[in-house]
Formats: sequence, C-alpha cells, structure tokens
Amino acid sequence: MRHIMIINAKGGSGKTTIATNLASYFASQNKKVTIVDYDPRGSSLDWLSVRSSAKQPIQGIAGFKRNAEKPQRKTDIAILDVPAAVHGAELTKFVKKAQTILVPVLPSPIDMRAATQFLAELKKSAPVSQKKAKVAIVANRAREITNIAWELDEFLSKQKIPYLTMLRDNQNYVRAAERGLGIFEMGPAATAVDREQWEPILKWIKSKRSQP
Ligand SMILES: Nc1ncnc2c1ncn2[C@@H]1O[C@H](COP(=O)(O)OP(=O)(O)OP(=O)(O)O)[C@@H](O)[C@H]1O
Ligand SMILES: [Mg+2]
Repeated sequence: MRHIMIINAKGGSGKTTIATNLASYFASQNKKVTIVDYDPRGSSLDWLSVRSSAKQPIQGIAGFKRNAEKPQRKTDIAILDVPAAVHGAELTKFVKKAQTILVPVLPSPIDMRAATQFLAELKKSAPVSQKKAKVAIVANRAREITNIAWELDEFLSKQKIPYLTMLRDNQNYVRAAERGLGIFEMGPAATAVDREQWEPILKWIKSKRSQP
C-alpha cells in the first residue's frame, strides 16, 4: 500500500482540497483508495459523507481517533490529510507514516514565510533527511495575472525540493467539494485547465522520483 501525505503547518493552504482530489482521481482510475483524516475537524470525512454511492467508493478513516481502524486489506493508495500547526516531534511522527509527501503553498507573503520555516523543518525531519520519504511542493489558489502568483512561482522554484505545478484558484474546486467529488469526476471541458495543471502531480506520483 502506498501512503501519500498532504501536509503544511499553515492552515487553509489546500491540504484537504488536494487530499480529496487525489483520492477521487485514484478512485476514478479504479484503484482502491482510503482517505485517513488526521484532523479532528474531519473535513475530508465530511467530503466523503456527501459523496454519491454511485461513484467509485473511497474508504474513510478517522485517523485522529485513538484506536482508529486500519485501511482495508488490498488498499492501493492511502491518502493522509494532516491538520495545520503540526511541528517538532509530532511532525516527525506524521512524516513516518508516508513515503510520498505533498506540501501546498498559497500565494501570500504570510504563507510563503511560513513555508520557508516549514520546509526547513520538514527537510530536517529524520524520514525526509534519510530519504525514506520524498517531498514535493504545489502552488495552490493562484490567480495567474497577479504579481504575488509570480512571486510564489519564483519562491517555490528556488526551493531545493521539486516544485510540481501551480493550481489556479477556481470555483471548480469549491463545487467539487460540495458534492464529494474531485475535478477529475466533473465535466472534462469545464475542468480542462485544472486537469492540465494537475498533470505534473500525477506524473510525479506515478514516477520513481516520488518513492524512497
Ligand atoms: N485551488 C482552489 N481554488 C478555489 N478554492 C480553493 C482552492 N484550494 C482550496 N480552496 C478553498 O480554500 C479553503 C481552504 O482549503 P482547504 O480546506 O483544502 O485547506 P486546508 O489546508 O485543508 O485547511 P486546514 O488547515 O484548515 O485543514 C476551502 O474553502 C477550499 O474550498
Ligand atoms: Mg484541512
């Protein structure tokens, strides 16, 4: 079973959005997917609760609970949605759970400064420094014509961690979230730009570069 974690200590950077879209993508590819929600607010589980039973099933686990159940046997991919404000020993404990880690970052000075600190901490954590887990960054909620989007692009390009893509700020993500879907399960024409922006994430996850 593959474990893919979405993490950033900064709140609201898009962890749950990326986790749910990734889960829905792999489910739509007929993979057996589990989403483990470590956030006691349970946003990923809420998303799953409105998902139609006509769609490919995704198992949901309340990872924040003591004695949380385990992913079903034969699960291909477990997507781990981690809450904000995770640092120090707790961060290392989380990072040990995954082989592949995605860090979403928003185009804002506050988020970029926080990302500098978080990425430094992440790189120092034992699983990452020992290459037992591979990390990549994703810019999220970019409005393309804005200066701050380009500043974020430049900032992330300078990190010594693969910078995969820039996802736009778009209502498709909001509409998908309302329905327990991902953009890959919505109309191909309306989501064409988003699908294209996701391509480097999927390519990286499918490549050996994202695995220890
Ligand atoms: N690319 C996007 N386009 C439009 N809205 C987005 C996008 N990404 C995230 N959002 C919205 O931004 C808000 C925060 O996103 P999300 O909940 O995924 O962040 P998070 O990192 O999981 O937050 P938390 O730290 O609170 O768990 C949500 O309302 C979500 O719908
Ligand atoms: Mg979240």
